[in-house]
Amino acid sequence: MIIDNVLSTAKAMVADHKGILAIDESPISCNKRFAEVGIPQTECFRKDYRELIITTPHLSNYISSVILCDETTKEERQDGTSFIKYIIDSGIIPGVKVDRGERELAGYNGEKITEGIDGLRERLAIYAQKGIRFAKWRAEIIIGNSIPTSGCIDANAHLLARYAALCQEAGLVPIVEPEVTMNGHHTLERCKKVTAEVLHSVFNQLYRQKVVLEGIILKPNMVISGLECSVQASINEVADATINCLLQSVPAAVAGIAFLSGGQSCQLASANLNAMNKKYKSKLPWPLTFSYARAIQQPAIEIWQGKKLNIEEAQAELLHRAQCNYSARRGEYDKHSDKY
Ligand code: G3H
Repeated sequence: MIIDNVLSTAKAMVADHKGILAIDESPISCNKRFAEVGIPQTECFRKDYRELIITTPHLSNYISSVILCDETTKEERQDGTSFIKYIIDSGIIPGVKVDRGERELAGYNGEKITEGIDGLRERLAIYAQKGIRFAKWRAEIIIGNSIPTSGCIDANAHLLARYAALCQEAGLVPIVEPEVTMNGHHTLERCKKVTAEVLHSVFNQLYRQKVVLEGIILKPNMVISGLECSVQASINEVADATINCLLQSVPAAVAGIAFLSGGQSCQLASANLNAMNKKYKSKLPWPLTFSYARAIQQPAIEIWQGKKLNIEEAQAELLHRAQCNYSARRGEYDKHSDKY
């Protein structure tokens, strides 16, 4: 049965204290990261960079799955092996981001809606044939004066649920990513209130669209203070607020929760995940892991700088971050011995 495959993939994605590595930036977003560190913004450099990441020795010790962007699913190594096959042969589960990014939500000032639902059934079937086993869709929820509105939250939640149902129909695990972004002056309490409202709407819609919760991975933001808030919550406060919010909003049947890093520094993203697992792991119905992009990749990209000479050092740093987050999943991360 197709759904049995979905359930076993979801379990494997969060098994053995491993986490998910997101390298699914669109060419535009990847180019922005390259521009920040002076790497040429071409397809060739993007391909070399993705190859550097997926060929990192021992990556599968800490990483269960990688999220690719569409461009990477079409690429091959010099010997003709597709990146997807290389990933599978390394013992890692390949997935792909299938949303087509955020646009202005018509009639809603400054709020966003995610595009990409048209033709999704056909695209998922092609990915499944290529060996892809899960997908990702991100909805962006912004906190500001009088936003988010329930109209924006519900529209995004509905699309997340329709996407998730289509993934399960195609035999793929949907990563459901409603991200309340950290930009703004809002407090920890406001982030918690908005995150809870978003999650309630998402699970209401998932239920209505008949999505099997045991076959999804939720990828939420942590509950943190806005970047420009004058009072920044401590690691302990973030852990308490995030767990309290999730326990009130996420059904126990969900296969796993894998946080996004959202722009937190590498160390902070590891320390926050660690605090949650250290204090609450034994009391939670779902495994709590990571699905980070920037908080794993940033040091590697800075070291690499587009130069062959730096590949080994960049890979070592990528592996180090993966290992830090693997430790954080066990509640055993020590930020004092974390060199980055
Ligand atoms: O959609 C966002 C990415 O998959 C996670 O990225 O960890 O840099 O927030 P991030």
